[in-house]
Amino acid sequence: MLVLGIESSCDETGLAIYDSNTGLVGHVLNSQVDLHRLYGGVVPELASRDHIRFILPLLDELLKKTAISIDQIDAVAYTKGPGLSGALLVGASVAESLAFSLNIPTIPVHHLEGHLLSPFLEKNTPEFPFLALLVSGGHSQLIQVHSLGNYEIIGDTLDDAAGEAFDKSAQLLGLGYPGGAALSKLADQGHEKYSLPRPLINTDDLNFSFSGLKTAVLHLVNKEKPLNDETKANIAFAFQESITDVLSVKCLKALDEKKLSSLVVSGGVGANRQLREKLTALSHEHKFKLYFPSLEFCTDNGAMIALAGCFRHQLSASTNYEFSVKPKWKLNDI
Ligand code: KG4
Ligand code: ZN
Repeated sequence: MLVLGIESSCDETGLAIYDSNTGLVGHVLNSQVDLHRLYGGVVPELASRDHIRFILPLLDELLKKTAISIDQIDAVAYTKGPGLSGALLVGASVAESLAFSLNIPTIPVHHLEGHLLSPFLEKNTPEFPFLALLVSGGHSQLIQVHSLGNYEIIGDTLDDAAGEAFDKSAQLLGLGYPGGAALSKLADQGHEKYSLPRPLINTDDLNFSFSGLKTAVLHLVNKEKPLNDETKANIAFAFQESITDVLSVKCLKALDEKKLSSLVVSGGVGANRQLREKLTALSHEHKFKLYFPSLEFCTDNGAMIALAGCFRHQLSASTNYEFSVKPKWKLNDI
């Protein structure tokens, strides 16, 4: 079957077609990063309007690119939540009305389920059960994935998400929004000069806390002002070392505690080169299997929603075309 996937939960409009037999057929994406950069963060109303502007042209582009006609589509999957309510409503209303007109089912998808299944877009895929580290702009969670749809959150952030800590620290270094990738690039030029705290690294639980780390960056920035390029790079280096150490240590602890031998890493921060390298080294040392989506599928995209929709088709397809979005939605409540 062919599933059309629509992602519109935040600042990316992503559409894709996934074939249950052959995998991903094609995907298209419009990122709103340039639109929101001016304001230093996502402006929800601007996000909704931009989704409205791009969603149908993107659908046309996708159909043209994949040489698939709309009446070949068997089901439409879309992000039902969590996310910005206005932005979610754009994807949900387009998906439901399109499916109604084609008389095919819809599959509402949890955005984080999309992220955690995204490594299945690759050739080498994990087997259930596995541990997932989901690190994005809004979430930092360790999830025990028992089977498809059976997710247990075993670790969570007590305050800022990992991506949020990257973005806020990047802002303190004058790198603009969203700063995660820029901070990481700057850290490549830095050296070990400063040491920043590694919050909760030795606690017995699997939780994270990154807001103190961001405050430590603030104090360091104030102490070293005015910052030259070398100092900025060294602070970025220290921040990245600290956060990737905490994430890696907690992954090891969770794998050990839950007796799991596969780790899936997804979400925007999963694109971080340092994190990928540290976890790869640990996977060799501690003999666990490690899976990442390719870089383009770490951040928000339609492909992971089309795939999750295809996987979930048996569990949650619906044909009543009524819909609501869930801006707040816990993954273990699906
Ligand atoms: O998964 P995502 O696109 O959106 C959410 O669902 O939140 O993740 C976006 C987050 C942002 O905070 C961004 O700064 C961060 O991922 N990010 C990175 C990198 N690329 C994106 N953080 C660290 N290193 C990167 N290379
Ligand atoms: Zn996301």
